Amino acid sequence: MSEILAIGSYTETDMAGLREMGARVIASLDAMRDLPEAERGDVRAVAYKGHHPFGAEEMALLPALGVIANYGVGYDAIDVGAADAAGVRVTNTPDVLNDDVADLAVAMLLMQQRRMRQGDAHVRSGAWAGGESFALNRKVSGRRAGVMGLGRIGRDIADRLAAFKMEMHYHSRSEKQTPGWRYHADPVDLAASVDYLVVALVGGPETENYVSREVIEALGPEGVLINISRGSTVDEAALLEALETGRLGGAGLDVFNGEPKVDPRFHALDNVVLQPHQGSGTQETRAAMGQLQRDNVAAFLAGKALPTPVN
Ligand code: 8YV
Repeated sequence: MSEILAIGSYTETDMAGLREMGARVIASLDAMRDLPEAERGDVRAVAYKGHHPFGAEEMALLPALGVIANYGVGYDAIDVGAADAAGVRVTNTPDVLNDDVADLAVAMLLMQQRRMRQGDAHVRSGAWAGGESFALNRKVSGRRAGVMGLGRIGRDIADRLAAFKMEMHYHSRSEKQTPGWRYHADPVDLAASVDYLVVALVGGPETENYVSREVIEALGPEGVLINISRGSTVDEAALLEALETGRLGGAGLDVFNGEPKVDPRFHALDNVVLQPHQGSGTQETRAAMGQLQRDNVAAFLAGKALPTPVN
């Protein structure tokens, strides 16, 4: 058995990289539970790609475990407290995906406001050729944008929106050096001040339902919510209700509670753009994420400093 266990669904490129390191690749945490005890006992490094919880119980199955290298910047699936207690290091893949995630956030906003999904259907269905005019939509440039969570990804989103000549607002744990952008200590106050609210929070228990019913109501019937963070950061029941009743103008969503199963009530809505959690999903970025994950594993096994440690 190998001392590296890769868990998850990897691309051919990543598979090749992992195998070159001598990793054993399995599909899921369930497959890990099924491994014989002696094989689990050899594992010193896990390369993890998945959103199922990896907690104390899973760590206890791997008594020699020293590092969990997460494929993704968000490591909310991994219980870092349990890792600390077990003396296990955790790493993630920050920065390499910022551009792609920010690009998708802006794309969803443009797509929602310019009704590009409906425009595409209008052409394909022959309605345009048949002489039907396409309804006017809303101007995006120059509007008021709010970013919830001005971390590295939030900052890249804000920079893009600022290039659309928008009035910039944000909410974050602390005020940042962003001359000309308005800081809101209160998330409801932020939502009440903008046309568009883009959620770029970290996931995990501390941000659960952070975009609350009050935040959604404050954004209002003309407002649009974009979420590229985690489904858990938004009160999804309140979001659905507000979208269905017109108390929120629209949404662009790349993440959902219980994904990949999405509440079918979303399918019936014309004012939403839905994406399959593909923020970082380009060939270039996924290759860079896989490389960084493997670099972390290799550094740990060589006793070197971890490139992108979490704990
Ligand atoms: C996922 C992500 O890692 O980086 C993150 O936090 O959400 C994504 O890039 C990706 O879906 C692979 O699981």
